[in-house]
Amino acid sequence: MSSPEKNITSVLKETRQFPPSAEFVAQANVPGAERERLVEWAKADPDGFWAEQAKSLHWFKPWDTVLDWSNAPHAKWFVGGRINASDNCLDRHLATRGNKAAIVWEGEPGDSRTLTYQQLHREVCKFANALKALGVGEGDRVTIYMPMIPEAAVAMLACARIGALHSVVFGGFSSEAVADRNNDAKSKLVITADGGWRRGKVVPLKANVDVALDKSPTVEKCIVFNRCNTAVEMKPGRDVWWHDVMADESADCPAEPFDSEHPLFILYTSGSTGKPKGVLHTTGGYLLGASLTHKWVFDIKEDDVYWCTADVGWITGHSYIVYGPLCNGSTVVMYEGAPNQPREDRFWEIIAKYRVTIFYTAPTAIRAFIKWGDHHPQAHDLSSLRVLGSVGEPINPQAWMWYHTVIGSGRCPIVDTWWQTETGAIMIAPLPGAVATKPGSATKPLPGIQAEVVDKQGHPVPANAGGFLVVKRPWPSMMRTIYGDDERYKATYWSHYPGVYFTADGARIDEDGYIWVMGRVDDVLNVSGHRLSTMEVESALVHHPKVAEAAVVGRPDDLKGEGIVCFVTLKQGVSPTDELKAELKAHVVHDIGALARPDDVRFTEALPKTRSGKIMRRFLRDIAAGRQSTGDATTLEDLNVLAKLREDDE
Ligand code: PRX
Repeated sequence: MSSPEKNITSVLKETRQFPPSAEFVAQANVPGAERERLVEWAKADPDGFWAEQAKSLHWFKPWDTVLDWSNAPHAKWFVGGRINASDNCLDRHLATRGNKAAIVWEGEPGDSRTLTYQQLHREVCKFANALKALGVGEGDRVTIYMPMIPEAAVAMLACARIGALHSVVFGGFSSEAVADRNNDAKSKLVITADGGWRRGKVVPLKANVDVALDKSPTVEKCIVFNRCNTAVEMKPGRDVWWHDVMADESADCPAEPFDSEHPLFILYTSGSTGKPKGVLHTTGGYLLGASLTHKWVFDIKEDDVYWCTADVGWITGHSYIVYGPLCNGSTVVMYEGAPNQPREDRFWEIIAKYRVTIFYTAPTAIRAFIKWGDHHPQAHDLSSLRVLGSVGEPINPQAWMWYHTVIGSGRCPIVDTWWQTETGAIMIAPLPGAVATKPGSATKPLPGIQAEVVDKQGHPVPANAGGFLVVKRPWPSMMRTIYGDDERYKATYWSHYPGVYFTADGARIDEDGYIWVMGRVDDVLNVSGHRLSTMEVESALVHHPKVAEAAVVGRPDDLKGEGIVCFVTLKQGVSPTDELKAELKAHVVHDIGALARPDDVRFTEALPKTRSGKIMRRFLRDIAAGRQSTGDATTLEDLNVLAKLREDDE
């Protein structure tokens, strides 16, 4: 990485622009003039615009009304339409793409598998029948806690096929997190594996589930896929093997037509309180958002080999590994493990092996690649690549330029995609054949998306002034509610400005109308592109018997974007030792998962508080940042603007 001094330049001064090449424009799904047409059409006649786009899906019965916003902020899209997500991702491809690879999978130990659309369809149908045989039906909730193997997608699509809601829990979360999510969703069944490979070790998923199920009274059954051949305990009457339940199942399972608003899944994400929110997405609108944006933003063509490196445990995996690409009949690469196992060139090896054309990853990974050295990508043939994507956190211009030159050979448009679990699909991103990119900006809202940056009163801010990112019109893939908590849904997203969706991100718009997202203004951290609430970490800490009080803040981190710093006061008589610091870090990992491991635990006599007893977080953030920041990942100006916005939001 370059020197800190050089990196303390603001994105405010970033003026480089990269228009798409004439060659790219000539073949683009959406060239510039077409984008303009779509933008104007969506503004003038939003319902007509979305209705036309929705024709790209297969409907058993067409809708009567495009948008019903009468019960705002609970939207209904394509009201009266009947649809099945699994049918759209599988059945309708069989006639034309039956033998096309749907999932090309690379396991960590070097094993690999390819499933054609025909084969994937067969697996999904059989597994859907197996779920039915175990008593799962329409509206039931199913927790999926799986490694990155094709069966994770099979499980999701099987649930969708029979109208059960899946709740995928990232395999890096702890048993506590699994239990919490089981209980909030009142899951009836859990699908897991004995384990999954990560950095040469087996992550003991089934053992975690065993602990979780002791505290999950609603769960009746558990299906276990044998991935790693490790010994697991199978509880009689509760646990069944995947291969056993599949053995005699028929591959005949017609997709049922569900209401367009039938819930498709719940995905838990962190908010500003200690309790994760179950973001609820429904079928028609979500599927349209995921598939349309996949086609537009990645310029998807029939023969593309598309690889999104996310885990299916996150929204990126839902929308851009499973639903979007499979709905478009794409070939999707999927991998298990980590980018530096067995070696730091794993990704480049996979790209060369499968001739990947579209590659979608996160800035935190890009920063790690830079650290590991250019010789890794340079040792592989990356000439198949044609579009590069970024997601999950702001990408600093230095990382953007490296991605552009070293991975893309200066040839591939970079699509920096801003969106959230709640938005379901990409909201702000360049259409690669239409919009010139600027390093560090997600550029402009997609056609039909009315995103703006406003001040505290809701007025648009002048060029380059910081403000809050909001969305002013409902869009098809928006979340419908927080599962079981309509009030929290309204309070979190719709109470800042009447009728306007509040993203909790700070941003600015430059003089060309480009949006620069700076980061969260609430108490949500973004650690390596993963969302984590400061309150979740605090509540884990105060559960420890030696801790009296805790305050958790983020600090800029050159690799992870944000690191976790914990200020802890101890109970009387407890000594502040290094051993205790290590113990507290391990305790947080145990409670939440490895992604929440604190970078720093600092013991303090007291926490700084206002007279009314509120912890002075800005003060703690400044202290936490002071020691570490080189300003590389987040620029200093941005930090100042964010600090100000956070105060405004309080
Ligand atoms: O702060 C924004 C950041 O990630 C948050 C959403 O996190 P999550 O729901 O986990 O979804 C991540 C994957 C879509 C946002 O509120 N974020 C996401 N993408 C970007 C981003 N920040 C800046 N630029 C992005 N491209």
